[in-house]
This record gives sequence, C-alpha cells and structure tokens, in this order.
Amino acid sequence: MSNIRSEAEQFLNTYYEELGLEGIANRISEVIREIERTGTYRQTEEELTYGAKLAWRNSNRCIGRLAWEQLHVIDARDAATREDVIDVLLSHIEYATNGGRIRSTLTVLPETVHLLNHQLIRYAGYESEEGVIGDPASLALTELCESLGWRGARTDFDVLPLVIEIDGVRSLHEIPEELVLEVDIIHPEHDLFGGTKIKWYAVPMISDMILEIGGIRYPCAPFNGWYMGTEIGARNLADADRYDLLPTVARSLGLNTSKDRTLWKDRALIELNGAVLDSFERAGITIVDHHTAARQFARFEKNENACGRDVTGEWAWLVPPISGASTHMFHKDYSNETKRPNFFPREAVPVRCPFSMAGERT
Ligand code: ARG
Repeated sequence: MSNIRSEAEQFLNTYYEELGLEGIANRISEVIREIERTGTYRQTEEELTYGAKLAWRNSNRCIGRLAWEQLHVIDARDAATREDVIDVLLSHIEYATNGGRIRSTLTVLPETVHLLNHQLIRYAGYESEEGVIGDPASLALTELCESLGWRGARTDFDVLPLVIEIDGVRSLHEIPEELVLEVDIIHPEHDLFGGTKIKWYAVPMISDMILEIGGIRYPCAPFNGWYMGTEIGARNLADADRYDLLPTVARSLGLNTSKDRTLWKDRALIELNGAVLDSFERAGITIVDHHTAARQFARFEKNENACGRDVTGEWAWLVPPISGASTHMFHKDYSNETKRPNFFPREAVPVRCPFSMAGERT
C-alpha cells in the first residue's frame, strides 16, 4: 500500500503553515477524495513550486541551500509531445544559463518522460587504444548514444545529446551549440595543461533524480544551481577516474612528482582550483568558492534554526574536497535524516524512514 495519503497530508500541512495560508482542511479533504477516486492527486502549481523549494532545502548533500527560496520552478507537467519536451528542456538550459548570470531553475516534466542523461549538458567519454577520451563518467551513456546512431567527434569535450524515452521509444537530440556556455580554464600566470585546451561547461543541471513532493514522484525534473569551484577543480578535472589532470598540472608547474611528500598533488590542486575560479569570474559566469559557500551555508543553518527547524546534512558531502577543516562544517556533526519533499536517485526511492544513502560524492 502506498502512503500517498499521509505524505500528501504532511506536505499540505507544511505548505499551508509555512506560507500562512487559510483553507487547509478543505484542501486536504479534496485531495483525499481525489486519491480515493483515482489513486493519486494533482498538485496546484503553487504547491508544486513550494514543494520543489522544500526538496532543495532538504537536500542533505547540498552546501548551496541558502538560496532555496529563490528557485525558479517551471511547471511543464503538460508538455504533451516529444517536441514540447525538447523545447522545454532547451528553454531550461537557456533560462538557467542567462548569459552567465546563472539562475537556479527546476523544470517539472510529465512522468511519462524518461530522460537518460545524468546532466542536461555533459561531456561524452570514449574508450580508445590510448585510454579514455573525454569524461570517463560518461562511458556508458556515450556507448548507448552511439548504439542509437549518434557519432561523437572524439574530442575531450563533446557535448552529449539529450536522450529521451517516451512510450518506450528513444530519441536523441543535439543541444544547439549556442545554448552551451563553456569556459576555457586558464591560469592567470602559468600554462597548466602543457598547451592543451581544457574547458568546462557553465551550468550543472542534474537530470537523473526523482523529485518527490507530498507522495507524488516526478521522475523527470531537471534542476540546476551554479558551480562551486571545487566540483570542477578538485573533482571533475582532478579525480584519477575523471580527467586526471593533476600529473599534467604538476609537471607544467615544474613540481617534484617523484614522491608524495613534496605535496605536488596538493599544490597542483590549489593552482587548478584557482584557475577554475578565475576563469569563470573573468568570463562573467556565476561560480562560488568553497569558503564563501561554507559561510553561506552557516547563514542557512542560522536561518533554519531561527525558524525552529533543524538542518540535516551529509557531512562527507558538505565538507569540500580541499581545505575541509578550514570550513565550519568539518568541526560539526550533522544528522543525515531524510526529510521530505526531497530528491532521490532514480533507482532507489526508499520508504519513509531515516536512512543513509550509500553512494559516491559527485
Ligand atoms: N558535482 C556535479 C558536477 O560537477 C554537479 C552537482 C550539482 N552541483 C551544483 N553546484 N548544483 O557536475
């Protein structure tokens, strides 16, 4: 038995209470009748919008939650055709990118739409004789795209097409180049990459999580904020199983890489992260450094406490991958209880109970 009814009641109570609205009893009985009749219910656009904001506020892994009330929610539950769906996704990219002044945005699509991309914009990855070309994290999706007739150019930065499945039919859609804002990563003083051009895209738009509000699951609800520099500089470009650039950077900086204790990895990381922040800033693209993000998170914690709410969080995700102990989060414990509404990985939507999600930090 689904607990849609009790989830709906809990959500509506929160929604009416936090917004100081009248008429909760009527709305709840209306929703209960609809659930009894149809097994589900349709949320109003306002409920959907506030529910999406709550899902962000409850995202234990996210350090950027101070801005939760500013989320721009696009209600595209009625996008009827494949063309509508593509239009809506491309509009999301354009609206969110906003020429570099990134806007936190979430679009809700019909539950019949299945988007196979991990993010709306992400680079392909290919196995080759000389090792992986591009992003190793995209190997499986890239292979799927090529099996469906797509052929990537095999640079390290080929933007994958959108892969959309509706009624069991998959189709691929190239994202128009002019919608894909990218930044060349250039260090202000050193050539970090031995002459190779390294870049990253401006907007991280997660597209493989299920948004759950009041017992309703929205399996296609891509959302974005803006980057924290370390996501690119200390993970995407640095992880040994991603672009693995630390050895290249260290060599370019003339560091002694013959032993760990020269701290060449640490020095390379700092210069690479400096280059990411500086490049985005010079390009006029929103990005936050991890120290500022931590201070903003402290403000979020304070705001929440002032509203009588506990902040839940996943420590290992909140603490940045470099200079962890220089942020306040390192020195605290966080309860990783799952509050709802929330976002869940596509495979695993757990039943209601405090749980801890296993998984990689990405
Ligand atoms: N870590 C992911 C990436 O590097 C993006 C996750 C969402 N990040 C964000 N700042 N909203 O692509």
